[in-house]
Amino acid sequence: MLDIYNLKDIENSLKDDNVVCVRGSHSFEECVDAIESFGKIRNNSNEVPTGQSLPEPWVEIKNVESLSQYFRFSQTKQPLHTDGYHVHGIQYAFLYFEQQAPEGGETVYIDSPKLKELLIENNLFDMATSVVFTLKKECQREAPLFDKNTEKLCWNYYRIINQLKAKEKLFQFLDGPCWKQANRIKLGSGELLIFEDNQILHGREMFKGDRLVIKGFFNA
Ligand SMILES: [Fe+2]
Repeated sequence: MLDIYNLKDIENSLKDDNVVCVRGSHSFEECVDAIESFGKIRNNSNEVPTGQSLPEPWVEIKNVESLSQYFRFSQTKQPLHTDGYHVHGIQYAFLYFEQQAPEGGETVYIDSPKLKELLIENNLFDMATSVVFTLKKECQREAPLFDKNTEKLCWNYYRIINQLKAKEKLFQFLDGPCWKQANRIKLGSGELLIFEDNQILHGREMFKGDRLVIKGFFNA
């Protein structure tokens, strides 16, 4: 992961690393301008639970008690996953921390090379590369957890509708030894995290108090 302070350095930093954290205190508008100076923000998130398109090409992730059955509106831990399983061809995800929780809320992530190492160590590499899962949301996607040829990742436990034994086995690994050995980063209010979606599994630790994160996708 690269820590940078200047929004102008995002484009170059993404050539060197697949996780970039912009520290300091930036407004959301400044962050959007910086991303749009070299990338195109994609409109691909729907409102939960109505399924309607949102007016802006990004979504708010915040705790709303009446909707806490959705990760987006809950304070619970969110297990490791990729976002792009339901949006074909997205390259980067961004998380802007409008307000970080006073307690918890760390972003948890692991990159493709480290995941490969852990899968091999745990005798799960064959399963992770050969079992093709079907993930279903607005659209359907078929992919293994770990693509042997491209080393790209695709995973969301809650969207997989087939291969249930392998799904459980891999989930136990991802949520157990892998979760423990993953990286953790806590962003502060006004900070921005960008990562290459199919090179990283990401999740978050549970949190207490209010937290507001704005999430979107872009292609460079
Ligand atoms: Fe996500």
